[in-house]
Amino acid sequence: MKKLEFLKLALFGIKTIIFKKKKPILGTIILTDYCNLHCKHCAVNNINQIMNPYEDIVEEMQDFYNDGIRILFFCGGETLLWEHNDKTIRDLIKKAKEIGFYIVNIVTNGTIDLDIPEADVIFLSIDGNRQAHNTIRGDTFDTIINNISKADNSNICIYMAINKLNYKTVTEVCTLAKENPNINSISFNFHTPYKGTEDLSLSHSEKEETIYTIKNMIKKGFPIFNLQCALDKYLKNTWQRPCYQCIVSENNKKYVCGRCVEIEGLCKECGYLFAVEFSMLFDGNIKAILQMLKTYLKYV
Ligand SMILES: C[S@@+](CC[C@H](N)C(=O)[O-])C[C@H]1O[C@@H](n2cnc3c(N)ncnc32)[C@H](O)[C@@H]1O
Ligand code: SF4
Ligand code: SF4
Repeated sequence: MKKLEFLKLALFGIKTIIFKKKKPILGTIILTDYCNLHCKHCAVNNINQIMNPYEDIVEEMQDFYNDGIRILFFCGGETLLWEHNDKTIRDLIKKAKEIGFYIVNIVTNGTIDLDIPEADVIFLSIDGNRQAHNTIRGDTFDTIINNISKADNSNICIYMAINKLNYKTVTEVCTLAKENPNINSISFNFHTPYKGTEDLSLSHSEKEETIYTIKNMIKKGFPIFNLQCALDKYLKNTWQRPCYQCIVSENNKKYVCGRCVEIEGLCKECGYLFAVEFSMLFDGNIKAILQMLKTYLKYV
């Protein structure tokens, strides 16, 4: 990110806080809901089985940009399954940069070739050590590690959704993030209990134990891309939601915060830490602002 872009984001933050604005800054486009996996905790794969056309996605990007959004995520289903008339994710990222987005990130399950130098950050889902990950995501751990070792760009951030099946392996995944030269950082979310996945939620004491572990790892210098203060706030479950600064677009329909916003009662149980962090940040929480500056400058 260039200095001027950083300053513009800072100005957006100041205006949002002072004038209590609800304008968005971070947008996510769902490229397709097709997925090659059926993870135990996931409720958004292979529902409509739509592969969005390139032209529609460009329109969604342009809409986002016109609305003031400057940080863009591409997500799925499996994001890297997306293709249309010979266009791939790399063409979409190049187009997004041409339009003017400052940061363009993708989220992927890592089972497909990761040669995507255009992405600022590749959020790659690894859900625990080999055994826990394979229990949740099928036998994919070795393929993913192999794809990471072949990747040329090292801007990979592990994305781990913590649940009942993997919370004991957080330390191991942090160690993997620290020791693998192609991995830049690790970011956690907690399980959000969509219908049928409620049994994967941690109890309050398991959450406490896990947050204690993560905070300890941050203190020890592990490359963790979460804000400490948001972990505490998540545990207290007192943060404001939905987060108005985040928008998701799927098949041209827009949702404030996440697609999950329409599921009755789910926001109360939300485990997506980005929503906690953005909500605190734009509420003017000084700790969140300082920790966000430090973390973003280090890992983006
Ligand atoms: C829906 S996936 C789409 C991108 C890609 N297929 C992947 O797995 O990374 C995006 C992220 O949401 C996470 N996720 C899915 N279901 C979740 C849930 N119930 N609670 C928290 N995170 C969840 C996944 O683990 C993944 O990191
Ligand atoms: S790979 Fe991603 S989209 Fe596919 S089932 Fe798993 S979490 Fe869901
Ligand atoms: S707060 Fe946002 S991310 Fe969390 S469940 Fe609600 S809509 Fe989804």
